[in-house]
Amino acid sequence: MIDVARFIQGLPKAELHLHIEGSLEPELMFDLARRNRISLPFTSVEAVRAAYAFSNLQDFLDIYYKGAGVLMTEQDFQDLAMAYFRRVAADGCRHVELFFDPQTHTDRGLPFRIAIEGLLAGMAEAERRFGVSSSLILCFLRHLDEDAAFTTLRAAEPYLDRILGVGLDSSEVGHPPSKFARVFAAAGERGLKRVAHAGEEGPPAYVREALDLLHVDRIDHGNRALEDPALVARLVAEGMTLTVCPLSNLKLCVVDDLKAHPLKRMLDLGLKATINSDDPAYFGGYLGRNWTETAQALSLSRAELVTLAKNSFTGSFLPPDAVSDHLAGIDAYLSSNS
Ligand code: HPA
Ligand code: ZN
Repeated sequence: MIDVARFIQGLPKAELHLHIEGSLEPELMFDLARRNRISLPFTSVEAVRAAYAFSNLQDFLDIYYKGAGVLMTEQDFQDLAMAYFRRVAADGCRHVELFFDPQTHTDRGLPFRIAIEGLLAGMAEAERRFGVSSSLILCFLRHLDEDAAFTTLRAAEPYLDRILGVGLDSSEVGHPPSKFARVFAAAGERGLKRVAHAGEEGPPAYVREALDLLHVDRIDHGNRALEDPALVARLVAEGMTLTVCPLSNLKLCVVDDLKAHPLKRMLDLGLKATINSDDPAYFGGYLGRNWTETAQALSLSRAELVTLAKNSFTGSFLPPDAVSDHLAGIDAYLSSNS
């Protein structure tokens, strides 16, 4: 019998909730700042890490948007993506559906194409070098207005064949999904998948709005749905995937202790939960660490880990034959490790 960390490392799995700008490690932040002659408000990598003490989502977002300011060229975005894929490939990740925040870059004067071309180049290189497949989800920043979201969707028009879907992130409370109902409808008409952060800090009503008004295919986080039993029953009945982020929840004080994390309760309730890293450079761990720390804290069984791995593929937007191949890969792994 191999130990839990090794079992998890070898288990084929997908990551469905990852903000690529949130994988910017302080070392790369300093390299890019130097390369682009940008001054940072920190004197050292250690000083950056020391600033990563957050008491809520907004504390984190303030520093995350500043950090992203060092990304200037296609090469920077490609390097960022490659650094992330190198880490998750080592964690046994086979597929990623990654978020990017174009408005964070266009609002500081970068053309839309810089971020997307660089990321697409990094994704193609990662598939060649590491065998990790990936696709892009464009997130609208919910603290900005609907017009800005429509402008972003228009900027994305030439790239729609290379964008899988749209998402909704940034400051949740005070910016309900209803604010973006029309732009999500427009995205749906263009054949894009739809996901939204809901129930991280916002109330269960925001999760309902994401379902009813944005017609989402997945809920990102969803923790606070647990406060509403009727909503839980609906999410179970609809087989809705929740992209849960345990170390993020701990760092942003959504939970006080990993041992009190609701992931196991979600599985017990029949919810289709998955494990993800959110912003790994800021929250203390990539996909593998999210899995191992959560497995230990909640004493997850092998069967529960396998369910989580299968959920990560059945909850992905991969075509059915690719999902079947990954599920067969999990079964093959289990028979060689029983
Ligand atoms: N929540 C909301 N918005 C975000 C996050 C998050 O955890 N990370 C990056 N943007
Ligand atoms: Zn997120």
